[in-house]
Amino acid sequence: MKKIRIGIIGLGIMGSNHLKFLKNQPENYEVTALCDINPERLNREETEGIARFTDYRELLDSGLCDMVAVATPHPCHGEISMAAFRQGLHVMCEKPLTETVAKTDALLAVAKEAGTVFSTNFSMRTNPLNKVIKEMLEKDEIGKIIRVDFVCTEWIRSQKYYDMQSWRGRWLGEGGGVLMNQAPHNLDLLHWWFGEMESVRGTIGTRLHDIETEDEVEATFISKKGFPIRFYANTGEAPGIDRIEIVGDKGTLIREGGKLNFRKLEQTVSAHLAGDAPFPLTKSELVEIPVPEALRGAPGIWANIAEAVNNGAPLIAPGADAWAAVEFANAITISHFTKAPVTFPVDRNAYDELLNDLINHKKGL
Ligand SMILES: NC(=O)c1ccc[n+]([C@@H]2O[C@H](COP(=O)([O-])OP(=O)(O)OC[C@H]3O[C@@H](n4cnc5c(N)ncnc54)[C@H](O)[C@@H]3O)[C@@H](O)[C@H]2O)c1
Repeated sequence: MKKIRIGIIGLGIMGSNHLKFLKNQPENYEVTALCDINPERLNREETEGIARFTDYRELLDSGLCDMVAVATPHPCHGEISMAAFRQGLHVMCEKPLTETVAKTDALLAVAKEAGTVFSTNFSMRTNPLNKVIKEMLEKDEIGKIIRVDFVCTEWIRSQKYYDMQSWRGRWLGEGGGVLMNQAPHNLDLLHWWFGEMESVRGTIGTRLHDIETEDEVEATFISKKGFPIRFYANTGEAPGIDRIEIVGDKGTLIREGGKLNFRKLEQTVSAHLAGDAPFPLTKSELVEIPVPEALRGAPGIWANIAEAVNNGAPLIAPGADAWAAVEFANAITISHFTKAPVTFPVDRNAYDELLNDLINHKKGL
């Protein structure tokens, strides 16, 4: 396999993780350049021997890279990724792609024009149980969906987490809270599993931390197929729950943490509803679904990107899919302030105006 010469832009928590991982993948990757606006982040033992820049444009102009990983705070993802695409580079842009639907549209248009590999790091797609859920839905093994409940609270973050970087928990710094930073992973799964949504009604709040943006979200989507999806996430509870309940005509699929169980009905719900019994006696069998082996997390994403660049393999987490997490998040935020359901697609100007008001403290939580 041809080695991919890669540059990493943004060397904080996530960029440093990427550096560590990519340096351990010498058969696929060679880290040739690093960039951070903070020289202290650049000049460390683990960066020695690698070209270093404080301006991402110099890194892009250096000719040292075939690909870049963008791991800066989200509001610069769009600008940096677009500049990389315009140089004909492959891009792995951290989630969320950007913080607004309008900026995401612009990025996707430039990426499409470039035609190079564009991945994001929605690493939850590498969780084999999440893949099994997708396959079961595609094979119609759960039947026509009746309802979905998704609770995502394994995201506990301390006040220190928000205080240690000035961009965190601020409308200007990241364009949102849990909806922009942690829950994009879960919102992406909703889109990956259930496709496009018709509308969403939601509320957001700052209840558990001293921050400007939301640390709690509650929303109900109506899918294009007509069933409701209730969604809850926060960054302030423990031990935390990661639970999805998908109720279908053929049974109920429940993933909680690392376990996936299917309560398979002997007779479908629709047959019971159409039957003679006023109080149907339903019978089901509990099927525990085994966890397949898989390369999980960022290692799985990076192995897949190398295959995509060198052999044209399909991406696990294509950048082109990642608009949905931004659009869903923006829609919930609009719905909170208008106190009304939001129909997709989101009104780009309405969201830009709302975010502007939040940044300028004309509105707030
Ligand atoms: N996929 C995941 O599971 C995952 C996990 C954590 C973070 N992230 C994402 O990674 C991104 C970074 O998060 P983090 O926690 O590492 O943040 P961080 O604050 O620890 O690091 C960001 C770094 O970017 C640098 N930076 C800022 N503007 C820059 C610019 N214009 N050019 C170059 N460098 C710049 C900062 O100096 C800092 O070192 C965020 O978008 C976040 O959502 C993804």
